[in-house]
Amino acid sequence: MAAAAKSISGMFKGTSAYDGKAFKGAAETIRSHSGTNLSSLFEGPVTAAGSKASANIEAERQKFEKLAAELGVYASTLSAAADRSPDVLGPEMRMRPGDAMMGGPLAKKSSAEQDATSMPAEHAFHLMLQTCTSCHAKFRVESE
Ligand code: HEC
Repeated sequence: MAAAAKSISGMFKGTSAYDGKAFKGAAETIRSHSGTNLSSLFEGPVTAAGSKASANIEAERQKFEKLAAELGVYASTLSAAADRSPDVLGPEMRMRPGDAMMGGPLAKKSSAEQDATSMPAEHAFHLMLQTCTSCHAKFRVESE
C-alpha cells in the first residue's frame, strides 16, 4: 500500500511521468486492500506478538471499519479518474481552489461515498492519505 501511494504521489507531484495504467494499478492495489478485505484481517483478538495492531480495533470496531471503507471509496475514485484520463494528468484531476477549505466537501456531509465520485482525483488522494494517517494514529501502536 505504501508503494502504491508513493507511486500516485509521484505522478501528482510531477516527479514521475503520468501513466494512466500505472495510476489505476496503484489505486486498485489500495482498493483491494481496503474495506472488508482490510478489516477482516483484524477480526477477533488483534493484539499479537510482532503486530502493531492496537487493541483499539476491538474496542472501536465500527470506527475502524468506517476508515477501511473510506479508504476504498477514495481508491475507487482514483481508479475511475485514471479510466477517464488514460494519457494526461489534466486539470480535471487537480484540486480546485477551495477544495481543501473547511476540510473539503466531506466536512459538511457524513459519508465519503456521497462526494468522492464528484471530487477531483487529487483531492481524493489527499483525503485518502489522511485516512491512512487517521487509522494509523488511532489503531496502530508505535512500539510494543
Ligand atoms: C482502517 C485502518 C487502516 C487504514 C485506512 C490504513 N492502514 Fe496501514 N495499517 C493499519 C494497521 C492496524 C497496521 C498495523 C498492522 C500490524 O502491525 O499488524 C497498519 C500497517 C501499515 C504498514 C506497515 C506494514 C507492515 O507490514 O508492517 C504500512 C506500510 C501501511 N499500514 C500503509 C498504509 C497506507 C499507505 C495506507 C493508505 C493508503 C494505510 N496503511 C491505510 C491500519 C490501516
